[in-house]
Amino acid sequence: METTLAISLSQQVIDLEERYGAHNYHPLPVVLSRGEGVFVWDLDGKRYFDFLSAYSAVSQGHCHPRIVGAMIEQAQRLTLTSRAFYNDQLGICEKFLCEFFGYDKVLMMNAGVEGGETALKLTRKWAYKVKGVPQNQAKVVFAEGNFWGRTIAAISSSNDASSTNDFGPLLPGYLQVPYNDLAALESLFKTDPTIAGFMVEPIQGEAGVVVPDEGYLRGVRDLCTQYNVLFIADEVQTGIGRTGRRLACDHEDVKPDLLVLGKALSGGTMPVSAVLASNEIMLTLKPGEHGSTYGGNPLACAVTVAALQVVEDEKLAENAEAMGQIFRDRMNALRDKSDLVTLVRGKGLINAIVIASRPEFGEQTAWELCLRFSDNGLLCKPTHGDKIRFAPPLVITEEQMHEACDIIEQTVLAF
Ligand SMILES: Cc1ncc(COP(=O)(O)O)c(C=O)c1O
Repeated sequence: METTLAISLSQQVIDLEERYGAHNYHPLPVVLSRGEGVFVWDLDGKRYFDFLSAYSAVSQGHCHPRIVGAMIEQAQRLTLTSRAFYNDQLGICEKFLCEFFGYDKVLMMNAGVEGGETALKLTRKWAYKVKGVPQNQAKVVFAEGNFWGRTIAAISSSNDASSTNDFGPLLPGYLQVPYNDLAALESLFKTDPTIAGFMVEPIQGEAGVVVPDEGYLRGVRDLCTQYNVLFIADEVQTGIGRTGRRLACDHEDVKPDLLVLGKALSGGTMPVSAVLASNEIMLTLKPGEHGSTYGGNPLACAVTVAALQVVEDEKLAENAEAMGQIFRDRMNALRDKSDLVTLVRGKGLINAIVIASRPEFGEQTAWELCLRFSDNGLLCKPTHGDKIRFAPPLVITEEQMHEACDIIEQTVLAF
């Protein structure tokens, strides 16, 4: 009786969204109402491993008490002033971010896509003020398969038709190269002196966790230096411990000129993004030339400092490295047992498996598999058809990881 009631409550919630919300997402039919650490619970009280972490945002685990504590404490004092005035949290947070990531200056925004947009504007400004590119001719290069959000500026760099169809005209000033192809990048840099920046994800998340060859990021750094082009690292998804290091760029010991962060910067509590850069780049922006009502608000600042402190104090990057290894070992062992899994890839706790399609499900095979993972208590989602991304909160323990891998293994073998 109780279950029937709860199931109908979930359906009511789904129906409400269907009736009143835009249909711009296609969620799994699970209605979540509570989260703690690596787990979320639905309206039925059923527990799931969260192996999506809101697209890598909830790295510190759901409702981390220190982050939520900082949030409540700040929310009761001051939440928003706009940048028309100073607030007593922004400077503290800016200092923390600059020292933590090793940059001169930071500019805080909200959504990740605003971080990317800010980096683009800074790059264009720098092109005109420092590099000497003639007005309105600056170009920025992007890697094919990139994803950095849904605004017109972001989709203008996309080669994914589902992102761009019927949204034209797209913005000018964008060039594309294949990902993981240094020779193509260099030939572009060589031929066009108006190129001001190269924006790239150290691992392409939305494209299906595409990991470039070792040496790629180092090569990008060297080419950007050689041709006086800004290296813009979009670490919105890969940053802050996710790949097993503080930044994914740390794996190759390279420092981008512009670093874009978001998602886990607030531990999944509110939208916070940031761009870090040198004085030379950041000080090209003058008062009144860029901003956001909520960017750098005191609530976001208090939460950001707490969220980063948690990553450090709980050694979450180290844990991501160790747990990621266990995950890939288990998935590779599964691949040997099942022809449904054709490939395992990733770094730290951003991983994906590529799924072979089954005739009865065709292109929906990965989706059908995710429905069964969900039935068995683990949430994840396909990306780009046949790939399933696994990105649990970085607080996952070894025991929890094995339990989750057991669910994945049993589900795949029973499929
Ligand atoms: C690499 C990367 N950059 C930027 C974004 C955009 O972030 P947001 O959705 O917060 O605007 C995303 C979102 O998935 C992302 O994966």
